[in-house]
Amino acid sequence: MSVDSVFRTRSLGVAAEGLPDQYADGKAAKVWELYIGDTQSRTQEYKSWVLSLLKQQGVRRVLDVACGTGVDSIMLVEEGFDMVSVDASDKMLKYALKARWDRRKEPAFDQWVIEEANWLTLADDIQKPGNGFDAVICLGNSFAHLPDFKGDQSDHKLALQNIASMVRPGGILIIDHRNYDYILETGRAPQGKNIYYKSDLTQDISTSVLWVNSKPHMITLDYTIQVPQAATKNLPEVSKFRLSYYPHRLESFKGLLTEAFNGKLEHNVYGDFNTYIPGQTKAPYLRGYTPRRESICLSP
Ligand SMILES: C[S@@+](CC[C@H](N)C(=O)[O-])C[C@H]1O[C@@H](n2cnc3c(N)ncnc32)[C@H](O)[C@@H]1O
Repeated sequence: MSVDSVFRTRSLGVAAEGLPDQYADGKAAKVWELYIGDTQSRTQEYKSWVLSLLKQQGVRRVLDVACGTGVDSIMLVEEGFDMVSVDASDKMLKYALKARWDRRKEPAFDQWVIEEANWLTLADDIQKPGNGFDAVICLGNSFAHLPDFKGDQSDHKLALQNIASMVRPGGILIIDHRNYDYILETGRAPQGKNIYYKSDLTQDISTSVLWVNSKPHMITLDYTIQVPQAATKNLPEVSKFRLSYYPHRLESFKGLLTEAFNGKLEHNVYGDFNTYIPGQTKAPYLRGYTPRRESICLSP
């Protein structure tokens, strides 16, 4: 029995056929840029973290596998990286496509590649350059959107394997998700400011946790967002949307990453952009992982 048959994972009106695009009704996509501030609005800590990781590794070619409206990709195009940006939701991609069109006279934007692609079929959906990208990014709590409808995490494994296969030997993956260990322990997402977007919109988020066979299976966040000057933006004053996430725990997610890289990786875990120290007193809001694929050493 699929979880979706007992529990509604997304806003009413979003079709339930196939792999669910939780953004398919366009509601969340429409307020997303307001929610995150605008496409320039990663917090400075987030921006410095991503840029320093990429620069330390001498990265040039980057694949963004969850570009959404383009927040990270635009930042990286502006910073001079060669970007390929993909996402499964055309409703989200349309904002990235518009940003590229609006800035098409800038050569970096003219060369920015944007495609529709799904993690479960990534190798068929996009062309891998040579032995892969210098870096692959999957940011903004995106990976947790992939549900586990089969109950064995096989889709998580397949998606992570496909994503990891895009990383060249010696290259890195940067992937993050909310601190689900904390949400499961306390029953709610940390309230207050989102540490990765600069948004100052008033928001309320209610958290539901679905347990199936004594295992936490899904976390649903209902967002209620007050939209200032809504009429001028053709939006309702109060925008409500629902997104569901798989609650990845730290240790099990590390295991999934190890498997996706066939055990040939160097692991780093971050809590709110600093090296994560197990047992640290302050629970991080966001967890980041930066597995680096081991280089292949060719014998002389
Ligand atoms: C929370 S949004 C984040 C977008 C962007 N990285 C940001 O931080 O604003 C998550 C994105 O993941 C995408 N996504 C979810 N499941 C996907 C899948 N199976 N394949 C590709 N993209 C997917 C969604 O369409 C959505 O745009």
